Amino acid sequence: MEHFDKQEIDARIAEGFPFLHRWHNRFHLEMPFGLINDPNGLTYHNGAYHIFCQWNPFGCEHKNKSWAHTKTRDFCTYAMPQLALWPTDLHDKDGCYSGCAAEEDGRLRVLYTCNAKDAAGRRSSVQRFGTYTKAAGAVKKEEIIIEGPPPGFTARFRDPYLFDWCGVRHLVIGAQTEDERGCVLVYREEAGSWAFLGELRTQLKDFGYMWECPNLLSFGDYDVLVFCPQGVEARAYDRQNIYQAGYIAGHASMDAMEMLMHGRFKELDHGFDFYAPQVLTHEGRHILIGWMGMPDREEEYPTRAEGWMHSLTLPRVLTLRQGHIFSEPAKELRALRRRESEQALAAEGESAFSATLYDLTELLLDITLGEAYTVSVELLFGREKFVLRYDRLAQTMTLDRTGMKLGGRGTRVFKLYAEQTLSMRLFIDRGAVEAFFQYGEEAATIALFPEKDIRPALRIFSDADMAQISGAVWELAPFHFERR
Ligand code: FRU
Repeated sequence: MEHFDKQEIDARIAEGFPFLHRWHNRFHLEMPFGLINDPNGLTYHNGAYHIFCQWNPFGCEHKNKSWAHTKTRDFCTYAMPQLALWPTDLHDKDGCYSGCAAEEDGRLRVLYTCNAKDAAGRRSSVQRFGTYTKAAGAVKKEEIIIEGPPPGFTARFRDPYLFDWCGVRHLVIGAQTEDERGCVLVYREEAGSWAFLGELRTQLKDFGYMWECPNLLSFGDYDVLVFCPQGVEARAYDRQNIYQAGYIAGHASMDAMEMLMHGRFKELDHGFDFYAPQVLTHEGRHILIGWMGMPDREEEYPTRAEGWMHSLTLPRVLTLRQGHIFSEPAKELRALRRRESEQALAAEGESAFSATLYDLTELLLDITLGEAYTVSVELLFGREKFVLRYDRLAQTMTLDRTGMKLGGRGTRVFKLYAEQTLSMRLFIDRGAVEAFFQYGEEAATIALFPEKDIRPALRIFSDADMAQISGAVWELAPFHFERR
């Protein structure tokens, strides 16, 4: 076990802000050193949103899993991140893995998976509560509520997520059966202990060897099970990453222990770099934050050589319409808008258009397709480019990173239905683009590492005249971090 010196680590974090490196994102959460992954413990407590995430403070490998913490009232100003939970004992010596948080009697309680391996490499996964206090700036570890997986399931048993069901606390856990099928298990709180209710069955067959990071959400009449399957094959228009993050919408029955009448598995994001999202529900808003990264693809992130890796996505508000999740950036983020470009984003009857952007940009774009059947929206960084290409006949959007020199390349293709107008909202940070299409119908997260420190430019062109282009370019302010 590494020696975690909270004071020393917190001091080094504070020294790392504000970020200066060209690739460090300015309006996404990142750490100045080490590797972050899953958002954890998202919760609203004492007037602020608390955000934890998986973090290895000692390097850019998937080891030494601990939790970092920050909080915010408005998603624009954040408390300086700190180390909040780290391996200390036999249960969690090989990692404080992912988990959730909830308010309980005015306290901020967290629930996480303690990961440990014995000399023979056998894994144990124990679920344990703790309490985060502002005074300590850390989680005090408390009771273990589940000692290990029930019979018939392997030690791949992690990522507890608490939810209320008819006024009673329940939790879902990511799991694997002994015959290596991914699944979700459900527990219910009963008189201070946690009873195993069973596997939450679904209609999905042959759907991967492990399901990670489940969330169960209620959208009025419908329930949504969010999870991250591993081992599902790619198809023409979806599941193109090594692992996926998505959902099924239907009706959860805690009596039948089944997701009833659910639709197909849909991905929450079609970009290259999105995994392990967690959803916080506050005052009826479902707010999702994802990990902007991908496991087992470390070589695609050149910041590794600089000593830090990955970010969290913007907070996205989810709505369910006709069985489909729409996601749009939280409205609080509008406060980041500094000034609107004077250069009007408007053209009529043209097949090419260009504009300059800011270092940190929000771009709104409405393209009335007119005669055009293919439209390319390019972000140019000198001679490098990232392209979003719409094909109206095939009704597909292609994200093309082949024109970039560093980082992951390749393409991602997904179905997008734009009859007359193609709408996009892009958030362009120093090392990432988050894109929302057709008013949130689809989203995509893309990490980008331009070789030169260059302001991006926009170029749009089509095979025939587009009837109209309109939109706006906003310069965004970076996140602000307050010392604590
Ligand atoms: C998902 C995941 C979780 C696990 C955590 C460990 O990315 O593998 O299942 O708890 O990361 O960092």
